[in-house]
Amino acid sequence: MKIALVTGVTGQDGAYISELLLSKGYKVVGTARRTSTSSYWRLKYLDLLEDKNFILEEMDLTDLSSISSLLKKYKPDEFYNLAAQSFVASSFISPLSTSQITGMGVNNILESIRITKPDTKFYQASTSEMFGKAQEIPQRETTPFYPRSPYGVSKLYAHWLTVNYRESYDMFASSGILFNHESPLRGLEFVTRKITSSIVKLKKNLISDFQLGNLEAKRDWGYAKDFVEGIYKILQNDEPDTFVLATGKTFSVRDFLNLCFDAAELEVIWEGKGINEKVFLKSSGKEVVSINKKYFRPAEVDLLIGDPSKAKSKLNWEASCSLEELCQIMIEAEFDFYENKKNIFIL
Ligand code: NAP
Ligand code: GDD
Repeated sequence: MKIALVTGVTGQDGAYISELLLSKGYKVVGTARRTSTSSYWRLKYLDLLEDKNFILEEMDLTDLSSISSLLKKYKPDEFYNLAAQSFVASSFISPLSTSQITGMGVNNILESIRITKPDTKFYQASTSEMFGKAQEIPQRETTPFYPRSPYGVSKLYAHWLTVNYRESYDMFASSGILFNHESPLRGLEFVTRKITSSIVKLKKNLISDFQLGNLEAKRDWGYAKDFVEGIYKILQNDEPDTFVLATGKTFSVRDFLNLCFDAAELEVIWEGKGINEKVFLKSSGKEVVSINKKYFRPAEVDLLIGDPSKAKSKLNWEASCSLEELCQIMIEAEFDFYENKKNIFIL
């Protein structure tokens, strides 16, 4: 039985890739750091904690010894590093801890693998945020990087480190440059989940309105379940390499908001411009969305659109879910969360 070690298992991608690996017959060692409040809601939602081939272990990316001891204990065939301080906005507030976790943390892993079990295949969760102020449209594996946040800079360090360990020590160290991918299991602080959660709360009269930041930013948004299939394929490739995973389409935050209002069957009217822009419900005339400067970032990534053709030709991977379908899935799941109370932690 193959053993996979998955860091960041309490996060969106960690939970979904664990589900995928278990379905393929792996033993999965999922690692989480100690937190004072339980953060296992995604693991419970996907029923992972009951699976006899799923083991939960404690590990912190900033602590080399916690990584080495798990490598010695389980000798994994594959190592998926999905842990990070992954919220761009927080990286401006806590740039040092972001670089220690998201950047240096990867150095801890690669050094541990090199010393302890160098034949472990390693996957690094790189990001389209490394393209930042995009130097080419669409962005591909060869596009020059220009990160625009402490998060993007930390991820770029981790990405080059992964390439460097591949080239220096002949390790199977691969990097997936993933564009935004969303799902019902997305954290509530990210704009897509904030929107789906708020719209359903509006419909259920739990809130009267909500606020957003920059509606002009454009992202290449895909479905997380498609993307974890791509992550898996990256480690099954014959050679370690770098791959862009994206849908190849881009939409603004405003587009996403409109598609979610449609999915929730709410008709809206837009009025005003820039910071004064507002959204009203057509039925009641009530103001439901306004703009708040506090959600703007010190430096923005204006336009992301990926070229996934290398992943298509070498991995036979492509995104299958349109943005309309994704909004539908997320809105439906949101109603389900409220109506069936499957997961009380997200409320
Ligand atoms: P997520 O939901 O924010 O999950 C991040 C995970 O990292 C959580 O399990 C978190 O644990 C863990 N973590 C944070 N600091 C840690 C530390 N010091 N030690 C150990 N674990 C720590 O992120 P995601 O959306 O699943 O993304 C997975 C990975 O892909 C991340 O590295 C992200 O940066 C990258 N990525 C994501 C996207 C995307 O669109 N989702 C795109 C490109 C790249 P807690 O539960 O304790 O906080
Ligand atoms: N979070 C948030 N909240 N973002 C907002 C808001 C708001 O109220 N209003 C507008 N936005 C804009 C942000 O300014 C940004 O341009 C866009 O919505 C997306 O923001 P997020 O959902 O926070 O995601 P992100 O694109 O910054 O980062 C995500 O994708 C990266 C891949 O490109 C994260 O998952 C990163 O970890 C990942 O690397």
